[in-house]
Amino acid sequence: MQTEIVAAELESSVSRAVELLDAGQVVALPTETVYGLAADALNPEAVARIFEAKERPRFDPLIIHLPEQKALDQVSEPETNIVPQLTQAFWPGPLTIVLRKREAIPDIVTGGLETVAVRMSANPIFAKIVGNLGRPIAAPSANRFGQISPTRASHVLDELGGRIPLILDGGPTQHGIESTIVRIVNGSIEILRRGPITAERLADFAPIIKRKSTAILAPGQLPSHYAPRAKLVLVDALESFSALSGKRVGALSFRGSTASDRYWTTARLSERGDLREAAANLFQRLRELDRQNPDLIVAELVPEEGIGVAINERLRRAAG
Ligand code: TXA
Ligand code: MG
Repeated sequence: MQTEIVAAELESSVSRAVELLDAGQVVALPTETVYGLAADALNPEAVARIFEAKERPRFDPLIIHLPEQKALDQVSEPETNIVPQLTQAFWPGPLTIVLRKREAIPDIVTGGLETVAVRMSANPIFAKIVGNLGRPIAAPSANRFGQISPTRASHVLDELGGRIPLILDGGPTQHGIESTIVRIVNGSIEILRRGPITAERLADFAPIIKRKSTAILAPGQLPSHYAPRAKLVLVDALESFSALSGKRVGALSFRGSTASDRYWTTARLSERGDLREAAANLFQRLRELDRQNPDLIVAELVPEEGIGVAINERLRRAAG
């Protein structure tokens, strides 16, 4: 299959995407977090194409993206009043809420679970496409299973080229890491995946519970997700890592490091130490380092505050 990349802002690209989705095909689209591999969520055959293209195991459920807030009632059962408060505050935006699903959602979307993960994307192109389609869109990150999420159209082409008909290029994504995923448990908010909407912001709405059990509730949250090819080790500061003799070691630095000259190559997340910028750059920098085929990547943890918590979570999982 020939994969076409087109400029997302063109009206013709938007209508092409809607036509393909309507016909049960998959299309890669930009969202405000990472690129998604989209299909009509109500068409099981279309959704099956997502799993095929990604080589994703069928038990790993997908997030559905709504055309409008009102559509929430069509996909999930009404729940506590915390949910409307959260959707009011954060939708459209990078917050995914796990809710009890309605029958209309095919089992293939949820991997047979009784729950469905729902969000509404703030990316204007995505919003236009899902609005024109008029049905929810199922979309996981547009990478092969287990790989780093794509933050640029070229990343999607690298991994899914030849497997999907169309990629809409909307430039680098705004947040650079995947949405925060929560569920409501007894009036509290449980964070299943850290992301751009931080625990601090969610705490305005309900108490936050930290997951105690290591049981994997979000099946895609396997500890070794997002693996680069090179072995990755984490350090608190690049200066403290010493075993470098004769090895090609790539360093991933937060702000830049005085120890840079000790490494074979260095990538930096944010020169001004801005955690949001660091998140937006994270997957691109990891890919750049990995592409150079180092013997090892040493990554520095970022300050454990705000969106830094979500960055460190990705780094820990990339390190397996
Ligand atoms: O920002 C995002 O969320 C991106 C963009 C494209 O929307 N999507 C994304 O999807 O990251 P994906 O499939 O790569 O990650 C979704 C995660 C997976 O770990 C999956 O297991 C979990 O959400 N998940 C989906 N449905 C669930 C459910 N009903 N209960 C618990 N976890 C669920
Ligand atoms: Mg993913």
